Amino acid sequence: MSLIRESDSEATIEGVRLGDLAERFGTPTLIYSRAEINARVTAFASAFGALDHLPCFAVKANNNLSILSLMATRGMGFDVVSGNELERVLRARGDASKVVFSGVGKLAGELDFALCSGVLSINVESSDEFELALERAKLAGIQAPLSVRINPDIRVSTHPYIATGEKTTKFGVSAEQAAQLLLRAHASKHARAVGLACHLGSQMTDAEPLLRACSLLLSVVDELQTRGVELEFIDLGGGFGVRYNNEREFELGGYARAILGQIEGRGLKLVTEPGRFLIANAGILLTRIIRTKTNDAQRFAIVDAAMNDLIRPSLYQAWHRVSRASLPSDEASEGPWEIVGPICETADTLASGRELAIAKDDLLCIDSCGAYVSVLSSNYNARNRVAEVLVDGDSARLIRRRECLNDQLALETPYLA
Ligand code: LLP
Repeated sequence: MSLIRESDSEATIEGVRLGDLAERFGTPTLIYSRAEINARVTAFASAFGALDHLPCFAVKANNNLSILSLMATRGMGFDVVSGNELERVLRARGDASKVVFSGVGKLAGELDFALCSGVLSINVESSDEFELALERAKLAGIQAPLSVRINPDIRVSTHPYIATGEKTTKFGVSAEQAAQLLLRAHASKHARAVGLACHLGSQMTDAEPLLRACSLLLSVVDELQTRGVELEFIDLGGGFGVRYNNEREFELGGYARAILGQIEGRGLKLVTEPGRFLIANAGILLTRIIRTKTNDAQRFAIVDAAMNDLIRPSLYQAWHRVSRASLPSDEASEGPWEIVGPICETADTLASGRELAIAKDDLLCIDSCGAYVSVLSSNYNARNRVAEVLVDGDSARLIRRRECLNDQLALETPYLA
């Protein structure tokens, strides 16, 4: 999927030329389109129109404060997995009462913070965590709103690193254990049993496994109801796949209708946790070719972005579309090109075998970099993390300045012996 309009003149994002953005902010830079984020949020929310539905943006996909603030102004809830993610949501003026707190390793301090902030739910993933949440709620004199994440043992077709619904993974508990924990929550004066959750994996293109998980959750809802426990919601997680290349995008409308068929008339709210779907295709990584290099086997375009800025190709063998963002120069030569960064690893290949007419100093645009790009970046090779820019119509503004070496050194120089 490309955000970029290529005309006879130059590539633009909304009303702004990528060449101008490179001049103004330098490269490499992550650039997001406000209009595209808004369009994705609207498409997501309207697909679930007929349901009592709370979409909670998965903050792990992109935790930039300005992005979170945009999500908050659109009425979104948030799915957080750490105290720091919760703090980011609150600083972006997100509504704590629309926050679900997921994750297998919550610490006592994080539970305290979530409880005092008034989150919608703590999605418990083990009996140990359940005990801790009760203990912390008792100490704080607060009733903990508890959901339990079920591991439904359902396989989905996606990269193995991001499949989370099988029982060989660390996530959730069995349906039987979830029912027991929620019965205990109901019986405790320090907790409220509010929901059941699951999350099967990320970048899924097929709704069928999610519908099976939904049936399983509803069977537990029914069992609990016969024992006097009325839950407020089921949370079916995120994972809605987008197009990077020729994949089929997850078909939300059919999914929402099927869920409606299953939960209609039960008085249950539906919570979802979309991350990638809302932002992956609303961002690009703008990079410049430092030089080209050819040997007997390959032609390399060495760019100023690297695997520390965009880890997805090396970590998940992910494919991102690459296009030229400046006019072809007279020196341009045809590929296939290996698009590589300056880092000292062969894994530092951002794209392989690309047919492009390019030359030294050209600007390139790497698509679908809105989700799981900035959040997964690092300082490997002592590289500074990139700048982030939000485009809105004809204007663009910085939403995170480029790091400088002093930002990195500040954490170490005071301790230099
Ligand atoms: N909820 C939970 C509990 C999750 O673990 C995740 C993602 C989501 C929601 C959001 O999933 P989404 O709608 O974004 O697919 N770094 C990987 C993706 C890791 C996803 C981890 N969990 C990548 O770049 O593909």
